Amino acid sequence: MMNYRITLLPGDGIGPEIMAVAVDVLKVVGGQFNFQCEFQEAPIGGVAIDATGEPLPSQTLQMCRNSDAVLLAAIGGYKWDNLPRHQRPETGLLGLRAGLGLFANLRPAKILPQLIDASTLKREIVEGVDIMVVRELTGGVYFGTPKGVFETETGEKRGVNTMAYTESEVDRIARVGFETAQKRGGNLCSVDKANVLEVSQLWRDRVTQLAPEYPDVELSHLYVDNAAMQLVRWPKQFDTIVTGNLFGDILSDAAAMLTGSIGMLPSASLGASGPGVFEPVHGSAPDIAGQDKANPLAQVLSVAMMLRYALEQPVAADKIEKGVLEVLEQGYRTGDIMSEGMKQVGCKEMAEVLLKVLSV
Ligand code: IPM
Ligand code: MG
Repeated sequence: MMNYRITLLPGDGIGPEIMAVAVDVLKVVGGQFNFQCEFQEAPIGGVAIDATGEPLPSQTLQMCRNSDAVLLAAIGGYKWDNLPRHQRPETGLLGLRAGLGLFANLRPAKILPQLIDASTLKREIVEGVDIMVVRELTGGVYFGTPKGVFETETGEKRGVNTMAYTESEVDRIARVGFETAQKRGGNLCSVDKANVLEVSQLWRDRVTQLAPEYPDVELSHLYVDNAAMQLVRWPKQFDTIVTGNLFGDILSDAAAMLTGSIGMLPSASLGASGPGVFEPVHGSAPDIAGQDKANPLAQVLSVAMMLRYALEQPVAADKIEKGVLEVLEQGYRTGDIMSEGMKQVGCKEMAEVLLKVLSV
């Protein structure tokens, strides 16, 4: 019997509701695949601010380090939106990424056949879409210095952030991009803004230099504005995308919407070593928190990613992914993916039908 220590970070908003579903799923599949999870829970984001004054208490980071994998739900809410930056929930999330060295963020956007009609795009555009966005997560303009709001000589305020990448930072994420493409369709598109930004020119040069080491991968480059357009124009041209932190933030949301609902998409954040963080791409949805309306499926699919990428339980991961397809096949939908003729359910009922499917 394998034993895993999993740190749970339910966070804010709908976080606790969807995390409860993830835990139930892990218990069920663990029993079937002969592994057991020891769960330890810690506060992050708004709940951590309320409890300790900090969005990422050092004990939380310590607990995460001391585990096999971290399962995060979501952070943030109106209540904490006006706090100074160092006390905002988002700062806790950024601190977690930096603290665990999670430089590679994998965000799959795969359209499920059952949800084609939930997309705002036409069927022929989205049918068959299967994209993996590899986003750099601990560098670029999110972390570059100088940063801050400074006063100029005239007394006017000036806000500054710095987009910066070193060669080694580009290389390590580019390698994740190439290796991911190798395991998928063999196509890698690197996205930058090399026509304007020096940092992007360096990015493009490094990615190009690494390409000969991956002769089985076909590399292309796009400027980020064009990439955004191509994603909604003809998304099937993409297999794997590798890009910097800010561009990846934006493009992964756009890619997510191709699939109908951001409520369906998981993600994995990985470092060179140590535990990864697995979390849905969507946020904490404070507007529907506590109303049993949340879609738990992105959280459940994040469990599948955790089993696949961190715990080496690919068969259990497959089972969960198939289970999610099955409940959709049976017509169950939460509000965010509801379409005509389907059965609308809340978070709890979605969990019940899923657990029933998984228990056979
Ligand atoms: C994401 C989010 C975060 C980001 C925020 C909440 C800090 O938008 O994970 O995409 O910008 O990275
Ligand atoms: Mg984002």
